[in-house]
Amino acid sequence: MNEYDYIIVGSGIAGLYDALLAQELGSVLILTKGSIDECNTKHAQGGIAAAISNADSPELHFQDTIDAGAGLCDPEAVRILTEEAADRIADLVKYGVPFDTVNGEIALTMEAAHSVARILHAGGDATGEHIETTLSRAARSARKITIREHCLATDILVRDGSVYGVAAIDLHTGSVEEFGCRFLILATGGVGQLFKTTTNPDIATGDGVALAYRAGAEIVDIEFIQFHPTALYLPGAPRFLISEAVRGEGGILRNSRGERFMLSYTEIGDLSARDIVARSVHAEMKKTGTDHVYLDVTKLQPRVIANRFPHIYKFCLDHGLDITTSMIPVAPAAHYIMGGVRTNYWGETNINGLFASGEVACTGVHGANRLASNSLLEVLVFSKRIVERTKGGGGNTYESAGDEVHSLGSREPGSVSVPPLTLNSLQSLLWDNVGIERSGNGLEKAVTILAAWERNLQPSVDRPSYELANMVVVGRLMAEAALIREESRGAHFRSDFPKPSDAWLKHVVFRKAS
Ligand code: FAD
Ligand code: SIN
Repeated sequence: MNEYDYIIVGSGIAGLYDALLAQELGSVLILTKGSIDECNTKHAQGGIAAAISNADSPELHFQDTIDAGAGLCDPEAVRILTEEAADRIADLVKYGVPFDTVNGEIALTMEAAHSVARILHAGGDATGEHIETTLSRAARSARKITIREHCLATDILVRDGSVYGVAAIDLHTGSVEEFGCRFLILATGGVGQLFKTTTNPDIATGDGVALAYRAGAEIVDIEFIQFHPTALYLPGAPRFLISEAVRGEGGILRNSRGERFMLSYTEIGDLSARDIVARSVHAEMKKTGTDHVYLDVTKLQPRVIANRFPHIYKFCLDHGLDITTSMIPVAPAAHYIMGGVRTNYWGETNINGLFASGEVACTGVHGANRLASNSLLEVLVFSKRIVERTKGGGGNTYESAGDEVHSLGSREPGSVSVPPLTLNSLQSLLWDNVGIERSGNGLEKAVTILAAWERNLQPSVDRPSYELANMVVVGRLMAEAALIREESRGAHFRSDFPKPSDAWLKHVVFRKAS
């Protein structure tokens, strides 16, 4: 078995930034299931939030993050996030990420639920692409980093409560190999592919959550899925994201009759928190009997649109839509997972030597609803802390928080008819029953079908079958958690419990029964 100090699974911003920091301390292996730049990171548009202007402060950023999180943020985690933000941005600048500037100062834009303009961006709406390219270039040229592309991690290897390595399948040869390490960092990203409609690329299949659950790690807040209100809705075009920054720069939502509608749902209007806008768009579509609404930027200067949002402008134009003259058809899509593998403030999990970083992790900063552009920042802040933590000896400092812990049990299908398991049937089941609007009945159905699918899973042999098996486990965790949480809070809305309840100011935690 080849041995490394650090093995990192994933090559988005979390995996690459961790690797670049860790190579100063030891040997690093990055395993990634596609080519190095296949990840959510590359698609990030809006930017990174950080209180760096004179009009802003970490305290204000703290308050906005807490307000968006709807009562479930961990205040200490948010304090760390907002206070360490400026230093981590400086690190990115040192690596060479070319943030946009105006008159020599870093340009800042507005996004929903931020009280001031605090979003840094690069290439207009190509922030993620610049970050990914800059960090992957640095990782490729680092002597102590080995990169294995097309290598999918299948299992975390644990002995006596400590990680000693990871098993992975080489997707070119089909052979399964084991790799040994002192520290294993999961940086596998999100779960958007569990839903029929998503802004996420193909890699976002929740592998890290499934691997961690199977290995005995705690999974928390997994019912909280963020739906982005404005994914492009054009026949024949992918669900390309139309950044929230477009509303930040003056874009307006209109219904199919061309009427503004956000102010009839909330007094803040188009720049309300993302969960509120997504639900309002969903309600407006139902009310007007359509499957989309419009984002209108036709009042902005064409030059401003083309310069500020070059990718969005070009993508739409390539699909026959000139957004400077025509409204953009949009609809909500699954976008981000607030929950995941539970970590402490140092990225440690309840398993010795296992860390989680980035979207796969739940550090506690997002609560029930993430504030826009806080995720790239979270990656930087907590990745740095992970590598800092591995410097010291003294063992794992993770402490369980004392929440009630659930595990996935068996369920009989009863009278529910179970369709054959395919990627499409899974995505439709989740979209229809664990989506923007949920109900006890729909969740019961989803939980039952997912349990039946899991019971009948065949051994995985290739990338699609490993991913599908992982999606079934993650879907089960998500649906069970949503069923357990009998209230509505942040991104989790239940039509049968439409209000928040103080009794639910707590977390739903899963850990596999040993
Ligand atoms: P990713 O970048 O998704 O990387 C995950 C990596 O893990 C990939 O390399 C993948 O191949 C690999 N992987 C997964 N499973 C396995 C496995 N089993 N074995 C091996 N490798 C595996 N956030 C912001 O803060 N600001 C924004 O403007 C913004 N815009 C966004 C726009 C879009 C369209 C999307 C989809 C997301 C956006 N987000 C934004 C969210 C943000 O981009 C992500 O949360 C963040 O990039 C996640 O980084 P990550 O490194 O954790 O995961
Ligand atoms: C966007 O640009 O709208 C996405 C921002 C985010 O997800 O944080």
